[in-house]
Amino acid sequence: MFKVPPISSARLPQLLRAMPKAELHIHIEGSLEPELIFALAQRNGLSLPYASVEALRSAYAFTNLQSFLDIYYAGASVLLHEQDFYDMAQAYLRRAAQDNVLHAEIFFDPQTHTARGVPIETVINGLHRACADARTELGVSATLILCFLRHLSEESAFETLEQAQPLLDKIVGVGLDSSEVGHPPEKFARVFARCRELGLHLVAHAGEEGPPAYIWSALDVLKVERIDHGVQAVHDPALMQRLAQERIALTVCPLSNQKLCVFPRLGDHNLGQLLDAGLAATVNSDDPAYFGGYINENFTQVFAATGLTARHAYQLAFNSFEASFASNADKRVWEHRLKEAFERCVEHDD
Ligand code: HPA
Ligand code: ZN
Repeated sequence: MFKVPPISSARLPQLLRAMPKAELHIHIEGSLEPELIFALAQRNGLSLPYASVEALRSAYAFTNLQSFLDIYYAGASVLLHEQDFYDMAQAYLRRAAQDNVLHAEIFFDPQTHTARGVPIETVINGLHRACADARTELGVSATLILCFLRHLSEESAFETLEQAQPLLDKIVGVGLDSSEVGHPPEKFARVFARCRELGLHLVAHAGEEGPPAYIWSALDVLKVERIDHGVQAVHDPALMQRLAQERIALTVCPLSNQKLCVFPRLGDHNLGQLLDAGLAATVNSDDPAYFGGYINENFTQVFAATGLTARHAYQLAFNSFEASFASNADKRVWEHRLKEAFERCVEHDD
């Protein structure tokens, strides 16, 4: 393992921004900025229940996950045409490139759109075209993960999988999101088993608001490879040991956790505890348009609030590449670039 050189705390924010990284937990509908919501509403001849961009943004005061989801699904209702999905993903990928994201695995919620009569191919083709263009125009690698909405039925998830079947070459995996408490992973055992047979990668949100038991069943029943959020794992020592031993990555989203009141203050976040216990935690933005920042804001704010160090920074970025579903060849190239960024930072330190 690379020995992380000493880096002054004054230089740490700059290093956090400059270091190459992967983003593994970003809901593309959660990257829809109020300005783009208004522009798409106008383009599509829709009226919004908010008078202005400012009025919409000022409604972003959440008390828990559900209070956010209600407004997040409403915002996504302006997406109708393939170009809308393309424009949304292009805006995110341009922003991610500025934050030195080399690779993004992007969640999307097809049922939010198919329920409004938007065909699934409109969604997937628009997002996929933006990912392909990001590679050539930005040098960013981007892939798609289809998420099932867990507040809907198993039958609806199966129906969505069937609709997606002709387009499976455009996605790398499936996930599980939306209202967690009351919708345990077991509800989707059979559909995840089918996705596994199809050769898709598997992830699930678990232990964001829900109990450690949901993390256990995401692992043992759904057989997921990563846990999205997972911060409630700290309440179960045996689970912590399992996650550390098996190097199961947690895609942690600090600003999301603060805005949805999972932790009362960012300074109370347990990211350092997870890393120091040997877990493969990563830092991600979740829904950056709603939670006050893209990935670099998540890094700089949680580091400032909790006093994490350059060693933690290296570990988080390294984990993000290691836990991705990219090829081993790509991972080695990115990890080499990460090392170089740290060495460059030391050369310039005084
Ligand atoms: N949790 C669950 N569902 C979601 C989230 C989240 O943080 N963001 C978008 N859908
Ligand atoms: Zn999420």
